Amino acid sequence: MRLLICKNYTELSLKAAQIVAGQVTMNPQSVLGLATGSTPVGMYSELVKMYEQGRVDFSEIRTFNLDEYYPISADNPQSYHYFMEENLFSKINIKKENTHILDGKCTDTAKECDKFEKLIAANGGIDLQILGIGQNGHIGFNEPAENLNLLTHLTSLTQSTVKANSRFFSDVSKVPTLALTMGIGTILKARKIIILANGESKKEAVKSLLTDSISTGLPASILKVHSDVTLICDNEACPNF
Ligand code: GLP
Repeated sequence: MRLLICKNYTELSLKAAQIVAGQVTMNPQSVLGLATGSTPVGMYSELVKMYEQGRVDFSEIRTFNLDEYYPISADNPQSYHYFMEENLFSKINIKKENTHILDGKCTDTAKECDKFEKLIAANGGIDLQILGIGQNGHIGFNEPAENLNLLTHLTSLTQSTVKANSRFFSDVSKVPTLALTMGIGTILKARKIIILANGESKKEAVKSLLTDSISTGLPASILKVHSDVTLICDNEACPNF
């Protein structure tokens, strides 16, 4: 795992955006795995700037989002559908039909997850996967557990994640306790992965990721078996060794 330490969130966002833009420039038909949450907001806004300046063309890219709450409708401002529309899709020249986000309103979750896996494979797999990291080391919504799921699946959120994500909701009771998420195997199949972490609240997770051995209790640690992962963190999230 490569480690890129940035002096602050602005630099982290710019570096991450440059990596994504580089991927899209090298292969305009790239398949990107996208993340939500507060971490990638700055990166998306840098990508929008690059698009407005005519430096990147997103017209041929295809995207798959990591996860979505369940149940939730796409027009709910807390949904990841809404987030992607607000932060990226409505501001660049991506084709709507080339974007894929798990349906938080589907009735048959197993079918929806299976369809998603098949669609990723039919598009040739993910070229570049962007990840954030939860305070407890989760990636996507793969929470610490004795066993981790390999494929896209329905999962329950831990109390700590519900609490951490409650900052986006009017009340903690409004946070869905279930989600659909790519599995660990889905993520590991990506050819290249970048994982972003900023702020003091991520310091412990980053420290465990860098120093502890691989364990299902820290889902992000599984990334160490992948040959092309770059952890990009800012000074606040980077532990002092
Ligand atoms: C959320 C998302 C993850 C995200 C993580 C960190 O629960 N499911 O994909 O990476 O938690 O979120 P944030 O960037 O807001 O700290």
